[in-house]
Amino acid sequence: MYGCGAESMNDPLTPYGNRPMVTPIVHAVNYEYRDFEVLRKITDGEIDGYTYHRDDNPTVRAVEKKIAALEGAEDCVICTSGMAACTLVYLTFLKAGDHLILFHDTYGAHYKVSLILERLGVEITWLDADKSGELDRYVKPNTTMIFIETPTNPLCKIIDIAAVRRAAGRSGARLVVDNTFATPFHQHPLALGAHLVVHSATKALGGHNDLMAGAIAGSKEDYDKLWFTRQAIGSTLDAYSASLLERGLKTFSLRAERMASNALAVAQWLRGQPKIGRLRYPGLPDDPGTAVSHRQMRNGYGGLMAFDIGQSQEDAKRFISALRVIVHAVSLGATETLICIPYLTTMLYLPPERRTIFGVNPNTVRLSVGIEPIERILEDLNQALNAV
Ligand SMILES: Cc1ncc(COP(=O)(O)O)c(C=O)c1O
Repeated sequence: MYGCGAESMNDPLTPYGNRPMVTPIVHAVNYEYRDFEVLRKITDGEIDGYTYHRDDNPTVRAVEKKIAALEGAEDCVICTSGMAACTLVYLTFLKAGDHLILFHDTYGAHYKVSLILERLGVEITWLDADKSGELDRYVKPNTTMIFIETPTNPLCKIIDIAAVRRAAGRSGARLVVDNTFATPFHQHPLALGAHLVVHSATKALGGHNDLMAGAIAGSKEDYDKLWFTRQAIGSTLDAYSASLLERGLKTFSLRAERMASNALAVAQWLRGQPKIGRLRYPGLPDDPGTAVSHRQMRNGYGGLMAFDIGQSQEDAKRFISALRVIVHAVSLGATETLICIPYLTTMLYLPPERRTIFGVNPNTVRLSVGIEPIERILEDLNQALNAV
């Protein structure tokens, strides 16, 4: 639509064919049909035309193609949030009587979605990420989907994607990998056998705490099925957020590289601190996930880590309250370093009895390392530990 050449000569936005450096933000809800032949080509899928925002939008479509390229996918569907993306996947590919395998160590809101899915007749088994090696025992003939995060949220456990794909193959189940923590800078789940990759693009892909979006990347065939659901239920991203996401993508690899190098330095420093316990960062040589993370991740190990502070939640609260550079907030993958206590934030989606069954303690913190100068982050951690 905004390319050079004869077609754009007719375009009032680019009358001389000069391509704008930024994809224009098209706020239009609806589009004039040039003639009935164009209408036919659009409805027959012959051209990437636009008719109505719930169906498609050129600003959104431009970003979809960029994320597809980042993930090595044939295409990508973008929608209003990471959870909208996950729910689109569930609604598109599950039906009553299907069996879905989920992991406790997955972003908390999945628990709420799982209650809805159960109401619709989907059978769900919840496993601990540490049990992913025993998946064969849990796959049944009606298992049609396995959904994983790796590294997991919040404990940064590592799941072997290729091994899960082998287990999924026993019943022909679809493997879906949430790649939000790893990002495509470090991990390509599709190349490791996953059928679909989902993202909270709210996080590192956007990267600036200023937009909410979700993305699903995979084959063209799956794109068509996901598009059907998105069009039906109306969760297409707005054009302004798509434009912010496109801008975030321009610096994505630079930010991801810096987050990972900062995070490794932070993890190495924290490891020597007596007030820090159960540190999980897949880039540390003695992390339980190291063997697998070395195999399936590259360019480093991302910006996320989890650890316990002191002996109690009061210790963790004292530590966080003393921080001056690092920001006490949820979300992750941003330019700023962010810290939160999952037990008090992301775990609130779960009933109290489920919050600690897979390893989160009341004093566990999740740290998302940003792109600040590393000295500032380390100095801040050091002075705040004195408060514990
Ligand atoms: C790994 C992961 N997946 C999905 C989501 C949901 O994303 P959103 O908040 O954009 O709906 C989150 C949110 O924190 C997340 O951390």
